[in-house]
Amino acid sequence: MTAAIVVKDLRKRYKDREAVRGVSFEVAQGEIFGIVGPNGAGKTTTLEMMEGLRRRDGGSVQVLGMDPAREPYRVRERIGVQFQMTAIQEKMRVDEALALFASFYRRRGDVAKLIAMLGLQPYLGQSFKNLSGGWQQRVSLALAAVHDPEIIFLDEPSTGLDPAARRELWEMIRGLREQGKTIVLTTHYMEEAEQLCDRVAMFREGEVALLDQPKRLVARMAGWDYIDFVSDDASLADIERLPCVQRAVETDGCIRVHGDDVQQVALAVLVLADSRGWRIRNLRFAAGTLDDLFVLLAGGEASGEARREGSAAKGEGSVAMGEGSGVV
Ligand SMILES: Nc1ncnc2c1ncn2[C@@H]1O[C@H](COP(=O)(O)OP(=O)(O)O)[C@@H](O)[C@H]1O
Ligand SMILES: [Mg+2]
Repeated sequence: MTAAIVVKDLRKRYKDREAVRGVSFEVAQGEIFGIVGPNGAGKTTTLEMMEGLRRRDGGSVQVLGMDPAREPYRVRERIGVQFQMTAIQEKMRVDEALALFASFYRRRGDVAKLIAMLGLQPYLGQSFKNLSGGWQQRVSLALAAVHDPEIIFLDEPSTGLDPAARRELWEMIRGLREQGKTIVLTTHYMEEAEQLCDRVAMFREGEVALLDQPKRLVARMAGWDYIDFVSDDASLADIERLPCVQRAVETDGCIRVHGDDVQQVALAVLVLADSRGWRIRNLRFAAGTLDDLFVLLAGGEASGEARREGSAAKGEGSVAMGEGSGVV
């Protein structure tokens, strides 16, 4: 793989808080690379250090062979950064914004082609504030790409978009990749990571916890079957004491129980419920998804408050399931 970006042991401290704690990864040329992780995991800080917009405290970053801290202007000519819409004047028209952003760079892209690709033609004369969220997002993508950059950075590009607009955005991003561009994006939608990204780095507390292709991350969840149910009176601690149960977690009023043999688990839970007089509703069987992997990973430390006392007594550390080729 030809690396567009090489990050090694990257570190950033804000006063007493270590936001990025020794992050390393490479982004291949022409791939869509996703960074996922809970709020505060260090995604934006990492992105900004790659973009040369934030000073790092340690480690190294190479973007297209250059260090963005040493050659910020040369790097900026060749990368595109999607800005939040708040950075653009409300009343500015789409065509004006495109012209303004293009004027920031020496390098000129084929703006007409970009407009055609993103379907912006009918909106050129409109001001931002009159555009829907989806179209604003397209315009901000166009603004990030006016100078035909080789790498485009997108920080949570689909936040706030409805599912249809999100899918359209994915198409745009895939279109940019087809033109040979490298895309680095952050997201907290696991479905987005799964559908869109070639590889995904899962961040947790300033570190890369897992890094792999989405389908291989999902494959780690093979065998990670569970049952879900709702109950007002079930005791999580009692359920966890059942020999066939590996782990029981409660999230948003829903109890999720894992074990090697979910049928056994379901049976044992129902028998226990019957003997204790618990009411169990909405019982269903489910298989592990990327979402589950994410929750497991985040729950390793971060979301302990989402669990009842006594949970996760068994099988902890089982996040790195399967053989860990992608564990970094
Ligand atoms: N400018 C800043 N000053 C102090 N702390 C910050 C600053 N920016 C981010 N942080 C802190 O650093 C941590 C990582 O933040 P961030 O990189 O924004 O994470 P993410 O994008 O994954 O949500 C968080 O705890 C956040 O509060
Ligand atoms: Mg962020």
